[in-house]
Amino acid sequence: MLWTFAICLQLGALSWAAPLARSGPGARNKLLLISFDGFRWDYDRDVDTPHLDVMATEGVKATYVTPPFLTITSPSHFTLLTGQYIENHGVIHNMWFNTSTQQRKPYYPTQFVDEWWDNGSLPIWITAQRQGLKAGSLHFPGTASSYQGQKALVGEVEPALYNYSNETAWRENVDTVMGSWFGKLDLDFVSLYFGEPDGTGHKYGPDSPERRAMVSQVDRTVGYLRSSAQSHGLAERLNIIITADHGMSTIVRGSQVNQILLSKIPGFSFRDLDFQLLDYGPVGMLLPKEGLLDKVHAALKGAHPHLHVYRKEELPAHMHYSRHPRILPLVLIADPGYVVNGIFPVQSNKGEHGFDNQAMDMKPFFRAVGPDFQQNLTVEPFETIHIYALMCHLLGITPEKNDGHLDATRHMLASGQQTEPSGGSENSILFNALIGLGVVAGILVIVFVVVVSYTRYRRRKPRESSEEANENDVQIKQSTM
Ligand SMILES: *[C@@H]1O[C@H](CO)[C@@H](O)[C@H](O)[C@H]1NC(C)=O
Ligand SMILES: *[C@@H]1O[C@H](CO)[C@@H](O)[C@H](O)[C@H]1NC(C)=O
Ligand SMILES: *[C@@H]1O[C@H](CO)[C@@H](O)[C@H](O)[C@H]1NC(C)=O
Ligand SMILES: *[C@@H]1O[C@H](CO)[C@@H](O)[C@H](O)[C@H]1NC(C)=O
Ligand SMILES: *[C@@H]1O[C@H](CO)[C@@H](O)[C@H](O)[C@H]1NC(C)=O
Ligand SMILES: [Zn+2]
Repeated sequence: MLWTFAICLQLGALSWAAPLARSGPGARNKLLLISFDGFRWDYDRDVDTPHLDVMATEGVKATYVTPPFLTITSPSHFTLLTGQYIENHGVIHNMWFNTSTQQRKPYYPTQFVDEWWDNGSLPIWITAQRQGLKAGSLHFPGTASSYQGQKALVGEVEPALYNYSNETAWRENVDTVMGSWFGKLDLDFVSLYFGEPDGTGHKYGPDSPERRAMVSQVDRTVGYLRSSAQSHGLAERLNIIITADHGMSTIVRGSQVNQILLSKIPGFSFRDLDFQLLDYGPVGMLLPKEGLLDKVHAALKGAHPHLHVYRKEELPAHMHYSRHPRILPLVLIADPGYVVNGIFPVQSNKGEHGFDNQAMDMKPFFRAVGPDFQQNLTVEPFETIHIYALMCHLLGITPEKNDGHLDATRHMLASGQQTEPSGGSENSILFNALIGLGVVAGILVIVFVVVVSYTRYRRRKPRESSEEANENDVQIKQSTM
């Protein structure tokens, strides 16, 4: 039996979903997840970004990443924290609402509505803590809420009316995370949020000089952050992932533009609705009165050349925005450039997001650097649902059920950290085959030994031996996960 056990251990070390080996001096590294809200994938193309460029040379850069739909802040950030599509984690909008009382809460107060966030999916902070790690979160959407009664060990929620663009405050927040949280408190994982360049992109548009200046501010902050990691002695044991929740698209305006205004559409009446979520960027949702769904759908469908009208179950499959009961029966989506207005054209932002996640303007950037990442590597685009599995792997924790997979990002890992054969690299096929053969052979040996010893033990001591057989079963399952 001892021999069987040894084989099990070896297989375990090679197993498909095994976390990083945790022996020796380079044990578990710390992880910092940063979101710069609304940082579009190509924002480094028309601005000098020396610090982001250095980070790309020293780490990994994706051409872009694909966010979940709908492409707005709270839902998309909760996907980063859970690895789930929005229809699966249930934070389906920035706004909490109740269709029978007509109540709505905007972005900030919704942060404090526990049942809106805690809808059956656990964010990575809680999972990490349940597995013995220490997590913190600064301003990241979802921080204020508790999940099955738990929160991140250390959390900082911004006050209402917070100034999200103050560079001095950004540096103070970086100092807090590096010096106090990773340093003194020795946290393993921190999520850190900055509300820009989203605010500036909305107000002035993504092509404005103001947005470019804000990207310079982001770049300086990245430089500050990395030198802060260095001066706190963290650089060698800290992995950093920087990404965003969505991009930004210019809204067309002026007298020539045929704006989307539902009140102007013939055959459509607000009296036919029980509830509406409109005037919130490019996506609207409607709850028609009992029996009037078809009527409202027929009135709106095809009524405007830049408005798409779907029954929730008919949304394009790539959006993964159908399943959840909170999604209202009719979903209206404008083409990039347009927003959905209700009674009056009240929206005045020059930039917006929320559009189809296939639109290039909605794609965020992605960078990663640290001891577990390759250097100077540019990778193909991937969906942000996969970042969660990557983070769990880096932290050495078992993920919750999620929609992503480590295979989407494994090729970014430094070769010593790719505990499993990498799916993408050239010489991995032979390696895969060898490992595969080894695993199969190993399992056959184990099965043989188990069966033999089980039979033998059974003759002697029925109960005890069946327990041992079960233990072996468990080990085999784990090693082939
Ligand atoms: C909406 O409000 C009604 C009336 O207060 C309540 O019965 C219902 O549970 C609420 N629904 C949700 C989803 O909060
Ligand atoms: C998620 O929210 C829906 C609708 O608000 C509710 O019916 C459901 O019970 C919630 N599930 C969990 C696990 O909280
Ligand atoms: C936010 O702070 C910055 C200074 O860093 C200032 O320039 C800006 O005007 C402030 N914004 C508001 C709305 O107060
Ligand atoms: C910016 O933040 C710093 C540090 O928190 C604060 O002292 C300063 O008053 C802020 N400036 C503005 C304009 O809000
Ligand atoms: C980074 O990689 C590119 C090619 O992909 C190469 O031209 C460049 O020299 C590399 N830079 C460094 C610092 O290794
Ligand atoms: Zn956002």
